[in-house]
Amino acid sequence: MVYFTIIFVSFVIAASFTGPLVFVFFTLIYPVLYLANVYFRRKRLNSAQPWSFNEKVILITGASSGIGKSLAHLCVKNGANVIICARRDEMLSNVAEECRKINDSVKVLKVKCDIANESEVSQMFEIIKTTFDRLDCIILNAGVSMGEQFEDTDYSIIKKIMDINYFGSTNVTHKALPLLKNNKKSRILVVNSIIGIIPIPLRTGYAASKFALRGFFESLQSELWKDEIFITMAYPGSVRTEINQNRLGSNPRELDLSDAVSSEECARILIEGISRGDKEILFTNRDKLIRLIEGVYPELLAYFAYAKAKKHVDLDRNKNQ
Ligand SMILES: NC(=O)c1ccc[n+]([C@@H]2O[C@H](COP(=O)([O-])OP(=O)(O)OC[C@H]3O[C@@H](n4cnc5c(N)ncnc54)[C@H](OP(=O)(O)O)[C@@H]3O)[C@@H](O)[C@H]2O)c1
Repeated sequence: MVYFTIIFVSFVIAASFTGPLVFVFFTLIYPVLYLANVYFRRKRLNSAQPWSFNEKVILITGASSGIGKSLAHLCVKNGANVIICARRDEMLSNVAEECRKINDSVKVLKVKCDIANESEVSQMFEIIKTTFDRLDCIILNAGVSMGEQFEDTDYSIIKKIMDINYFGSTNVTHKALPLLKNNKKSRILVVNSIIGIIPIPLRTGYAASKFALRGFFESLQSELWKDEIFITMAYPGSVRTEINQNRLGSNPRELDLSDAVSSEECARILIEGISRGDKEILFTNRDKLIRLIEGVYPELLAYFAYAKAKKHVDLDRNKNQ
């Protein structure tokens, strides 16, 4: 009901921007498209089932803090063996210890690994092969962000973000695929961001990396249908984590986390989405509306992004120089 109300209101708003013809067209055709989407969603979920975390082997990148750490806790709680990786070894050891306390009957393997470093990723996969020789799911969570205007940003930061968020995650996937293909209904979860749908100011490099992930994994999913590997793209909004402290740049502006969800709640939603084999995970009705508007009314979304930019960025600072 809430969903339909949102759609209706969005149509009315959109009609005022795009004109009555577009409005009438989408009002008539929308129910048909909606039903077709429900049909294909059901079809996907039916082929993704049954699947449970119990006794599975799951690799989680970026598990030393935040969402990755909470995901590790929940995976072992649900009976999965986990490989947790990140660069900060001591924090990773603490997470491994916590996981063993939560469930001492599963295996927990911690590997210190910078996913942007190709040889470290190769070494990690050697360790995974000798320890498990199996993977049922990879969770591509490791990521860094930024918080400056592009013109103030040292360009090396744009490259570094891409190296970690995009090249790191796709390289891990490349190494994992042969193992994932050995098992039925394997999973790949990509922890994207709502900024991978609506690019907001001060996040150019971050938005680029998240958009790139979306394009890459949409394309990969179409290659992997035949292998029944299910890729889930998750688009969290604000989550209370260390992301502000770990932000790259000389003077990054902090993300407002006042209405953020906890990392535990975020992980719970992600775990449910992986189990079902969802194609996408959007966290709130607002996010679902953004996703809808993005496809149909891009100018409207661009206006919202511009309005947000005006709040955070001095757009006129070079005007009279
Ligand atoms: N917090 C939010 O509001 C939010 C919203 C949407 C999406 N996300 C996404 O959620 C994911 C997790 O972020 P978070 O919020 O949980 O922040 P976080 O607490 O800073 O966690 C980031 C994790 O990524 C790891 N990492 C960073 N660079 C790495 C590298 N080169 N190699 C291996 N691991 C690396 C970090 O570990 P080390 O530093 O120890 O390597 C850390 O464990 C990110 O992809 C982020 O874009 C977050």
